[in-house]
Amino acid sequence: MKLFVDTADTKAIAELAEMGLIDGVTTNPSLIMKSGRDIFEVVREICDLMEGMPVSAEVVATNAGEMEAEGLKLKEIASNVVVKVPLTWDGLKACRRLSGQGIEVNVTLCFSANQALLAAKSGATYISPFIGRLDDINLDGMELIEDIVEIYENYEFDTQVLAASIRTANHVRDAAKIGAHVATVPPDLIKKLTLHPLTDKGLASFLADWKKSGGEIL
Ligand code: G3P
Repeated sequence: MKLFVDTADTKAIAELAEMGLIDGVTTNPSLIMKSGRDIFEVVREICDLMEGMPVSAEVVATNAGEMEAEGLKLKEIASNVVVKVPLTWDGLKACRRLSGQGIEVNVTLCFSANQALLAAKSGATYISPFIGRLDDINLDGMELIEDIVEIYENYEFDTQVLAASIRTANHVRDAAKIGAHVATVPPDLIKKLTLHPLTDKGLASFLADWKKSGGEIL
């Protein structure tokens, strides 16, 4: 499973990119707002940091013509920009128009398998089902990932399932088990995936014994 980071925080992206842990970046209007920066400036910086890997930048228009125009403008920032459009009727029209021009499109705000089916038929490169927001209203976000993976496999769609709105370590594990192609995860949560109390306990005991041994490595 590819791992994308869901943020517009360039400091966090730079650290993860240097570690080679991430395969792409996703942003949305809320994350751009949180960064406090101009979308063109921040997306350009992210694209430079990611060296050719996919960086999703989202349109904010609601009709197909304007979404297409915004998408084309965002795409001018760098060749690795993936244009993100919402899963609406007009969003699907914009997806078809942009993908027809060879532009990669991430269709976002997906909450049902039928929406995902239409996105694939509209030429989406990625479909972004939101796990956490479904769980928030007592529905099963992971079941949606499972349904979409199954449907795409049945009909050999090329669209990649990009599990989004990931809130927990179990979301990451389950998306990987189900076969999501990508998970986009907030930077803090990626860091937390390293944590295990037995790792901390084991390390403390190794270091205590090492101290007693009086040995030195450097
Ligand atoms: O970028 C889309 C998605 O990952 C949003 O997550 O936590 O705001 O539901 P969240």
